[in-house]
Amino acid sequence: MAVQYQPSGETAAAISASVETGVRTGRLGPGDPLPPVRALAVDLGVSPATVASAYRSLRERGLIETAGRSGTRVRSRPPVALRSSWQLLPPPGALDLASGAPDRQLLPRIDVQAIEGVTVNYQHTGPLDDLIELARQRLEKDSVPAANVTLTSGALDAIERMLTAHLRPGDKVAVEDPGWANLLDLVAALGMTPVPMPVDAAGPTPAGLREALAKGVAAVIVTSRAQNPTGAVVTEQRAEELKAVLRDYPTMLVIEDDHAAELSDHRAHPLGGVTGSWGYVRSVSKPYGPDLRLGVLAGDETSIARVAGRMRLGAGWVSTILQRLVLALWRDPQVAAGIRRAGQVYAERRTAFRAALGDLESYGESGINVWIPVADETRAVAALREEGIAVAPGALYRIATPPAIRVTTATLPVTEARRVAEAVKRVTAISPARWY
Ligand SMILES: Cc1ncc(COP(=O)(O)O)c(C=O)c1O
Repeated sequence: MAVQYQPSGETAAAISASVETGVRTGRLGPGDPLPPVRALAVDLGVSPATVASAYRSLRERGLIETAGRSGTRVRSRPPVALRSSWQLLPPPGALDLASGAPDRQLLPRIDVQAIEGVTVNYQHTGPLDDLIELARQRLEKDSVPAANVTLTSGALDAIERMLTAHLRPGDKVAVEDPGWANLLDLVAALGMTPVPMPVDAAGPTPAGLREALAKGVAAVIVTSRAQNPTGAVVTEQRAEELKAVLRDYPTMLVIEDDHAAELSDHRAHPLGGVTGSWGYVRSVSKPYGPDLRLGVLAGDETSIARVAGRMRLGAGWVSTILQRLVLALWRDPQVAAGIRRAGQVYAERRTAFRAALGDLESYGESGINVWIPVADETRAVAALREEGIAVAPGALYRIATPPAIRVTTATLPVTEARRVAEAVKRVTAISPARWY
């Protein structure tokens, strides 16, 4: 059992290497606890300072996290390749409402004719003019300033590139709490410190943003719509309030993640441009398919030049084969109709589930996830598993927010909403405090 994994070593480097090996080989899984510093020091016959130093370096690299009374644990997605997948797969026959993935049936079919016979040499690479032009039109329709646009390998890649273009390890980053687990893990892996901003149905609260800024953050990351895990949507009023706060920080880096764009049934209210340093990110993952690793990034001239220039030195560019596939999807009116329909289906599934929850406190204004506060999330997740329903524990997404579960409704048929809601109500019988 992973819980029994005992780190070894006599130096900080050896102890941290031993923990890393445990993670890589799967003997230490996500969320597994590490021994307290003093206890491990006694076991290994070393000073507490040596163990503390090992843990510090693992924390700075995003492998582990220390969260108050819960002690030190392995992060949900540490930055090392694993020998085997950690994913706790749902039991056979179970309803998988844990994945956060779109419904495969609602993704458009890829038309490979768009790349038939295409051969490309080094000199004909980089973002395709036609794709950038279409991306620009789409952004401008949503009032996003789109004078400077480039491409990345997805939304998270764009966020990483924006962060590393401006920040250094040790810098503080304001993130939504609860917020997207992958982003929290990325910030940790970059050696940056997350500063939580509470989120309500309209996005980060102005007070939460103000507090984070007062703590000296060097960047702020906001999800525009379909916030993961709460479904929050930044409303027009909230955007104005957040902009008013940000105007006192004219050089602050503001990154907006509008990953679900075309799927959303809510208008975007961008913050982009309120400060001199900003990036507005869109992904093709949710509407068109997560395997199409393409993100569109708009921003200020300096940021976009840095991101594009840095990419040229490493990955080079986003494959033009992939760009052509996305261009073909964007140009196809039938695909556009399918995406609109998918947005409606996701909204129907989410609202049917929330309606079946009745008075139970839940959050899911948009997108494919519903966030439900519970008294004890470990028990709630386990009890639902027993009933053949897999949901995600809130611990992956929260910093200071109280316990909750995340239910992905992307594939939950409307006809199953009541059964699942009844099961959720049974495991959340104890009513917790509001989470914002
Ligand atoms: C908040 C958020 N941003 C972005 C994405 C998609 O990111 P990517 O384009 O890297 O696949 C997701 C997918 O789950 C998400 O939840």
